[in-house]
Amino acid sequence: MNQHLESVTAALVDGGKGILAADETVPTLTKRFDTLGIQSTEESRRTYREMLFSAAGAAAFISGVIMADETIRQKSSGGMPLAEFLLNQGILPGIKVDTGAKPLAGSSGESVTEGLDGLRDRLSAYHDMGARFAKWRAVIAITDTLPSPACVSANAHALARYAALCQEQHLVPIVEPEVLMNGSHAIGRCEEVTGAVLHSVFRALFEQGVSLEATLLKPNMVVAGAECPHPATVQEVATATLRCLRRHAPAAVPGIVFLSGGQDDRMATTHLNAINRLPGSKPWTISFSYGRALQDAALEAWHGRNENLKAGQQAFYHRARCNAAASLGNYTDEMEAEAADAASPLHRQGWHDD
Ligand code: 13P
Repeated sequence: MNQHLESVTAALVDGGKGILAADETVPTLTKRFDTLGIQSTEESRRTYREMLFSAAGAAAFISGVIMADETIRQKSSGGMPLAEFLLNQGILPGIKVDTGAKPLAGSSGESVTEGLDGLRDRLSAYHDMGARFAKWRAVIAITDTLPSPACVSANAHALARYAALCQEQHLVPIVEPEVLMNGSHAIGRCEEVTGAVLHSVFRALFEQGVSLEATLLKPNMVVAGAECPHPATVQEVATATLRCLRRHAPAAVPGIVFLSGGQDDRMATTHLNAINRLPGSKPWTISFSYGRALQDAALEAWHGRNENLKAGQQAFYHRARCNAAASLGNYTDEMEAEAADAASPLHRQGWHDD
């Protein structure tokens, strides 16, 4: 059993590929659509997801896609379940299984991620629908006094319970403890909190008997707060992030796939590249599992219009290609300058090939 899970884990961090996080819940995707004046309906959300999933050539850079519950139940325009549609292109289907960050009792401004009740049965049903891996996101805020030890341990415990259930149900868990970049704190404070959170998470994974060899870690990068008057340089971010991971992420974990967390898309690529270019030991594959940093340009280019589907796919292909290069430390400014359509096979193909 573990051997199968380990081979799925290895496929997800196959050299030069990363994961597309397209698992926004209906309310979250609706908010993103609203900012661009796109009507959010079950059909417009399906069309948007199919646009991303069917971008020709993107499978060379994308190993897996994390879907929301609505999406894994939907079909392509040609009538194929979207999970099968992805598998046919060599992309592993994944599923977000937490039910969201809810206020933590007894604490103001902190949350604990819920979704453990009934999770075993939901995981089994998602596996039957074709999912091969899952995601659970914990959210940790930084202020002068937060996070509280209670918030860190409650979220770590839930992540570990989720991960153990996933492995029991033949799904690879992606463990995502996200330390938010909101705030004016300096990069050192983010490193301190991220380190403490990772320490707590791996302790909980150990206690719950989770196999690290069949687990992926999805952390934040170590950055200064978004409102910090002294933003960190790319080199400072890369150095602090790798140092923090070396101290707190066991070598048995096959892959670290970063979230983008609100970083601008090019910055998320630049940071990933800089981390991979640093000398010294990196016992895990270091890649991406970006949501906004992979989708923002594509969503903007599409704008909800059928005539823009190809432009949306080109924008997605371009970012996927740049991030795949960054996962090998091979990203260059010239890649950004290259016209996306010159680099993409999309100009030769329709917007989907069902
Ligand atoms: P972002 O890359 O937009 O942070 O999203 C990643 C994700 O999956 C959040 O749960």
